[in-house]
Amino acid sequence: MYSMSSLVGYEPFVNNCTSLLTQRLNECAKAGQTVNLYHWLQCYAFDVIGEITFADRFGLLDVGEDKEGIFIAIDQRSNYATFVGVFPWLHQFLFSLQPKTGGGLFLLNYTLKQIEKRQSLLKDPKNAGREGPPDIMTKILLAHEENPEKVTKMDLITMCQSNIGAGSDTTAITLSAILYNLLRYPHTYKKLQDEIDTAAKEGRISDPVTFKEAQEQLPYLQAVMKEALRMHPATGLPMARTVPSSGTTICNHVIPAGSAVGINAWVAGRNTSIFGPDAGQWRPERWLEIESSGRGGEVEKYSFSFGMGSRTCIGKNISLLEMSLLIPQLVRKFDFVLDGDVERSGGVKSSNRWFVKQTNFRGRVFARKAS
Ligand code: HEM
Repeated sequence: MYSMSSLVGYEPFVNNCTSLLTQRLNECAKAGQTVNLYHWLQCYAFDVIGEITFADRFGLLDVGEDKEGIFIAIDQRSNYATFVGVFPWLHQFLFSLQPKTGGGLFLLNYTLKQIEKRQSLLKDPKNAGREGPPDIMTKILLAHEENPEKVTKMDLITMCQSNIGAGSDTTAITLSAILYNLLRYPHTYKKLQDEIDTAAKEGRISDPVTFKEAQEQLPYLQAVMKEALRMHPATGLPMARTVPSSGTTICNHVIPAGSAVGINAWVAGRNTSIFGPDAGQWRPERWLEIESSGRGGEVEKYSFSFGMGSRTCIGKNISLLEMSLLIPQLVRKFDFVLDGDVERSGGVKSSNRWFVKQTNFRGRVFARKAS
């Protein structure tokens, strides 16, 4: 479901949402107002993951607002998990105080309704022999029906909800980190725009760009994505692992069995011995240099934005698909100007919980003339 080979089936889902976001941004450009760019990228990321999970978006891009309170619900759940994750003994006292209504309940009911709808669609004799839509819920549902003891109904509900909780804000944050840094350092925006315009003129990329084209024809885009993941990882706490019964030694420190050890991706990404003396700066070119010097594999081991090891991010490929399809469309169709207040306050601000979300990413959008 999450492998590279499954991604082709998800491209139309992503393109539906890219086309809607482009329409909304065109309207913003006509209105000439300063807009909350994080909000629009959040609507985009939630709707895409809705499409990929249920073959049905939440409709956030259609109306431009979160009427059901899904964003807030996921924020509340994530804030709770942040503090209780760091101080687990709090859980026994605080869990019963968690809200039982609102966006969280909406999300559960939404998931249950989508499952019910798909079950009746697949059972309808009119659809016999036809394949269901290639979304993740259908794939898990079919696996559940084939072997309900191995893939339980609870697995189905949990996986669908995990996709939404883990795959929407993270992607919105990373898309915002890409766009924000490109606007803050306009020469990098221009360089990416040139790469895309040239590839389009030479007929090497389509409109919209396919995932294969983005990977093979747009090396600067790939470098920009990696640099944004390094500079602004979506998660801001160490990814804790438990030391096994034999204990361990790390950097000459003996660590006893049962201890929690981990590293924060923000710290790992600023390691000057790996990323160079300018590790604190936005410079996508470093990834092209790393690649051409043959250090790609080694540096990969120090890149923690998607975690590492057995609990690494399962949705990494899906998020790379979203970034690879959306960013070229934004850059080829629009110019943006960062809001002066963001500049004056020293750059974008973030709230730091488990997710590190931008709070003041605003700017103006201008439609580019078709060349
Ligand atoms: C740029 C976007 C994303 C980032 C930066 C990101 C980052 C992460 C990180 C840091 C972890 C913890 C890894 C660890 O402990 O080693 C994680 C886990 C996870 N992610 Fe993502 N993620 C992104 C997108 C997605 C998407 C799109 C999905 C689903 C479609 C997803 C689903 C998950 C799930 C289910 C887990 C838990 C895996 C497990 O515990 O076995 N993520 N992600």
